[in-house]
Amino acid sequence: MNHDAVETKVGLLGVLIALVISVGGLVEIVPLYFQASVTRPAPGIKPYEALRLEGRDVYIREGCYLCHSQMIRPFRSETERYGPYSLPGESVYDHPFQFGSKRTGPDLARVGGRYSDDWHRVHLLNPRDVVPESNMPRFPWLADGMVDGALTARKMEALRKIGVPYTDADIAGAAAAVAGKSELDALVAYLQGLGTNLRTGT
Ligand code: HEC
Repeated sequence: MNHDAVETKVGLLGVLIALVISVGGLVEIVPLYFQASVTRPAPGIKPYEALRLEGRDVYIREGCYLCHSQMIRPFRSETERYGPYSLPGESVYDHPFQFGSKRTGPDLARVGGRYSDDWHRVHLLNPRDVVPESNMPRFPWLADGMVDGALTARKMEALRKIGVPYTDADIAGAAAAVAGKSELDALVAYLQGLGTNLRTGT
């Protein structure tokens, strides 16, 4: 009887579907806000220092995430190639996180230290110079663009407001830390730090 009402009244059906989906969503999503492994930094994870923070912004501006993910999934095929799988606690200071889902190029979550700084410089300016078959675009303008240190401290202050534990000293020293650095320097510093902080305990 009641079932007939639900099936014949589209509006009622819609409301009930919305209700079921919201309850299901809440049960799945809300616990994540209270789960320590998701909300607290994993061992060894620290906020990005000034130059890396700027490099991360270059990474986002240039759309590197459109071809590169930063999330190693817990499958053997991934861990053999990229290293230990990513933990949620590694991304707590990433606003916004750079997980990505499109892999035209390899995952970069643990690329830090895999190549030299010089390799990255050459590769970013013209990937074909070091990987002849590469179809990654060139980013030659990065060597000319300078980091605007006046903004670095303000970015850190903004991040502190949403919970990234920058100290007053970090913020006061930010402009000096990026003075005279190019966008290329910043991006290479960012890449070289990726995945290197995590202490796996082994
Ligand atoms: C159109 C897709 C595309 C874009 C955009 C792109 N890449 Fe790539 N990237 C690739 C491909 C394909 C490779 C593999 C070939 C190579 O090493 O050049 C690669 C390789 C890399 C590697 C070497 C990874 C490894 O483990 O060997 C790094 C580091 C890298 N890219 C960084 C970047 C950065 C930083 C940006 C943004 C400035 C960027 N990529 C933008 C496609 C892309």
